[in-house]
Order: sequence, then structure tokens, then C-alpha cells
Amino acid sequence: MKITFCCTDTKAEPWLRGLAAALPAADISVWQPGAPQADYAVVWAPPQQFIDEQPRLQALFNIGAGVDALLRLRLPPGLRVVRLDDAGMAVQMAEYVSHALIRHFREFDGYEADMRAGRWSYRKPRLRQDFPVGVMGLGVLGERVARAVAQFDFPVRGWSRGAKQIAGVRCYSGAQGFNDFLAASRVLVNLLPLTPETQDIMNRDTLARLVPGAYVINVARGAHLVDEDLLALIDAGQVAGATLDVFRTEPLPAGHPFWSHPRITLTPHTSARTLRDESIAQIAGKIAALARGEPVAGVVDAARGY
Ligand code: NAP
Ligand code: GLV
Repeated sequence: MKITFCCTDTKAEPWLRGLAAALPAADISVWQPGAPQADYAVVWAPPQQFIDEQPRLQALFNIGAGVDALLRLRLPPGLRVVRLDDAGMAVQMAEYVSHALIRHFREFDGYEADMRAGRWSYRKPRLRQDFPVGVMGLGVLGERVARAVAQFDFPVRGWSRGAKQIAGVRCYSGAQGFNDFLAASRVLVNLLPLTPETQDIMNRDTLARLVPGAYVINVARGAHLVDEDLLALIDAGQVAGATLDVFRTEPLPAGHPFWSHPRITLTPHTSARTLRDESIAQIAGKIAALARGEPVAGVVDAARGY
């Protein structure tokens, strides 16, 4: 079996070594224009030329959870696209969101500023029932985040396309559940895939429907959020602030108002990193299963967009 590797901005050598160790019978190489036809591909942001030159692929393995960039390419109909299914990302996302939420709720930024200024001062404890957390997207990552946050006794709400039941989480679904979900959430965590339906979903209208004093944690994709609308609502005092890990343009362009906004905390798209060893084990296991004719989890529905 032939496997081709085409991952932009990724050091190929350790991946090739890991895949070769997990699949000793496979012939694995880095793709170059004109390379021979492969059976399976391991990809991140491949060029259209790669897709066009590899029509015999049985499956395309994306080394991330989000497939929005991949689905913007012209893919042959019927090509199986497989996303990473947790592979160590869910626990990272749970850590990141819990950290951002607790930092905001407990006002640790304020305490840090006070201590650095030599001030020993207390703030009035806030009530966690006043900080209901709404998680948009209850998939592999969102469900783990919702469960983690519920462990700290915050009221937790969740929103997904299809109806769900998760212990400790009040679940809403579909367009008809969206307004009630927003009205019942103060801290909004975004873990939706980026699709035509979800692009710009955090805008002036939707963010204004959150409980006043809202806080936004965006860990999915930058294009889910209308930047100017968030800034306007923060400046108007309706939204208290935001923690943002993802941006419309990455790296975030110099001079963007997010860089210097005192109420916005930024990280460089790092909330849940692809962990190489876990990912290789998962992808190799799935390639072996497909080669035996067995089904695998994490196959993307291109029509749905995730
Ligand atoms: P997933 O398992 O596919 O879950 C997606 C969830 O979103 C599902 O619950 C789905 O509902 C819901 N959903 C999709 N479209 C919807 C819509 N129109 N209305 C309401 N709910 C909708 O995805 P995941 O693995 O949790 O990953 C989520 C996203 O996180 C990825 O797509 C990626 O963009 C982002 N991500 C970011 C980082 C980072 O470092 N910042 C790392 C990894 C992933 P159903 O359950 O009903 O289908
Ligand atoms: C990272 O953003 C991913 O989609 O895995």
C-alpha cells in the first residue's frame, strides 16, 4: 500500500518515521508534483494540485479536527475525508476553556494587576449560578468541554444540530433552540465547525442576546466571529470581554485592534494542538481498518461540511 504525506507547515520526517513504524508494510513518502499514485494520503492544507494529481486515493486523513480548509478544495465526489477524532485534543480543549472561564470568573487578571501594583485587595466573590456557560457545538471537543466545566458546578448549556442528552448539561438544538440557548448563556464557548451555516454566527445580533455581562471564548475558527461586532459590544459594556484563540486571518495582522484591547486575551491558535504520536496511532489504525474493509469513525460528511 502506498501512502503520501502532504502537510503544509509540518516537519515531515517524524511523521514518516512514526507512520512507517506503525505500518511497516506500507510505502510512505512526501508528495511532490508528479509523484506516483497513492492509496491513502495524510494531509494538512494541501494545494489543489495535490488533489488533482491523486485521483486514486481511497481516503484523505486530515491531521486536524477541522476540515473547513480542505472542503474548500475541489475534491472528487465520493473521496473519503477522515478528520482527527480527539487524538488528545479534547483534554487540551477542556483545559484551555476551563482556564479561560475560571480566569474570568475569579477575576484573576484583576488580582494579578493588583499584586503587581503592590495592592493587597479583595473582590467580592461572584456566584457561579450567575455565570451560565453555553457551549456551541457538542461534538468530540464540545461535549468534553461541557462535561469539564460542569465539574466546577457552573450551570452548563449546550447547543448542537441534532438533539442530545448529556448529564449535567441543558441541551438545545437546531435553529428553534438557538435563541433560548443564547438567552440562557453568559459565557459563550464556540466549538462549532466552520460551515456556510455557522460562518459569522457570533455577531452583533446573537452576542446581544446573551445574558448581559457576557464573555466570549472562541476556540473554533476566526470566521465564526464578526470582529467589529464583538469590539462594539465590549465598548458598549454589553459584553465584558473575550478569550480568542482563532482569527479570520492567522497570524493576526499587526495593528488589528484585538492585539491591544485590554478586555481581550489572545493565544496563537494553540488551544488544542495536534499531538503527533496520538495522531499517527489513530491514522495508522484507521488505514489498517480500511484496508481490511472495515468502517472507521471520523468520516466527514461533505454535504454537511463537518
Ligand atoms: P465535531 O465532533 O464535528 O462536532 C461539531 C459539533 O457542532 C456537533 O455537535 C454538531 O452538531 C455541531 N454543529 C455543526 N453544525 C451546526 C449547526 N449548524 N448548528 C448547530 N450545531 C452544529 O467537531 P469537533 O471535533 O468537536 O471540533 C469542532 C471544531 O473545533 C473543529 O471543526 C475546528 O474548527 C475546531 N478546532 C479548533 C482547534 C484549535 O486549536 N483552536 C483544535 C481542534 C479543533 P451534531 O452533533 O448535531 O452533528
Ligand atoms: C485545529 O484547529 C484543528 O482543526 O485541529
